[in-house]
Amino acid sequence: MSLLSGKRACVLGVANRWSIATAIARGLHAHGASLILTYEGERTRDEVEKLARELGNAPCTACDVTSDESIEALGTTIDATWGGLDILVHSLAFARKEELAGQYLATSRAGFALAMDISAYSLVALCRRCSPLFTPGASVMAMTYVGSSRAVRNYNVMGVAKAALEASVRYLAADLGPRGVRVNAISAGPIKTASARAVADFTKILGQVAATAPLQRNVTAEDVAGAAIFLASDLSSAVTGHVLFVDAGHNMVGIA
Ligand SMILES: NC(=O)c1ccc[n+]([C@@H]2O[C@H](COP(=O)([O-])OP(=O)(O)OC[C@H]3O[C@@H](n4cnc5c(N)ncnc54)[C@H](O)[C@@H]3O)[C@@H](O)[C@H]2O)c1
Repeated sequence: MSLLSGKRACVLGVANRWSIATAIARGLHAHGASLILTYEGERTRDEVEKLARELGNAPCTACDVTSDESIEALGTTIDATWGGLDILVHSLAFARKEELAGQYLATSRAGFALAMDISAYSLVALCRRCSPLFTPGASVMAMTYVGSSRAVRNYNVMGVAKAALEASVRYLAADLGPRGVRVNAISAGPIKTASARAVADFTKILGQVAATAPLQRNVTAEDVAGAAIFLASDLSSAVTGHVLFVDAGHNMVGIA
């Protein structure tokens, strides 16, 4: 029997083939999970539907996390399709490009609110809607970055949003734990995706990590998917409220 057979997973955050969510969806499918994929809007719909066809004709539905109605509709779709949910993957974030360059000091009120809403609050709203659907042993995971706890040049407001996301993971783990539902985060090293490219000088970050990480390389979306499969499976049955680094060890280096 496969590691995830019988498990039903909803994956948010596929935009294209480079998305971390794409590798996670592929990994969950390969280990036997059934999938529902979501797309943010019409711009990404074709890519998501293409992936869904490859992964056992998984159902696809729109979910823009800035809209309560859209989150409600996703919950209704999951309920109508399966009547329960075992795995929820939150692999999405957004900040305005102008706020991912220069000084954090310059962050606007509107830009701060938008980054927080999409990148952090959405996890709370999704967990609340899915709460009645979660089965005992269900696993929720969100993607974060070390810019949450260290000042990473140009990461700025997204670092603050990731700090809120990680704190949310702990509070949600406390709320949902008594029902056997686990909530964790994966802190991925930098990976060249559309979102990452919005951060100014992103390729310099890639070079620095490869030069100083103990494993002397950058990570891949497939490395992250491996950790996601572990967190989705019963192998991690007592792991909750945790931030799991998948970064070739870079986060723990002091002076390289
Ligand atoms: N790439 C990296 O270096 C890296 C490192 C650590 C963490 N992460 C995190 O991984 C996650 C996935 O990012 P990625 O690197 O795969 O980039 P990506 O651009 O492929 O994915 C980002 C996703 O966010 C979705 N999104 C944005 N606004 C949305 C909204 N309003 N409603 C619904 N979806 C919305 C986009 O549609 C897209 O699918 C993000 O949380 C990101 O912060 C990325």
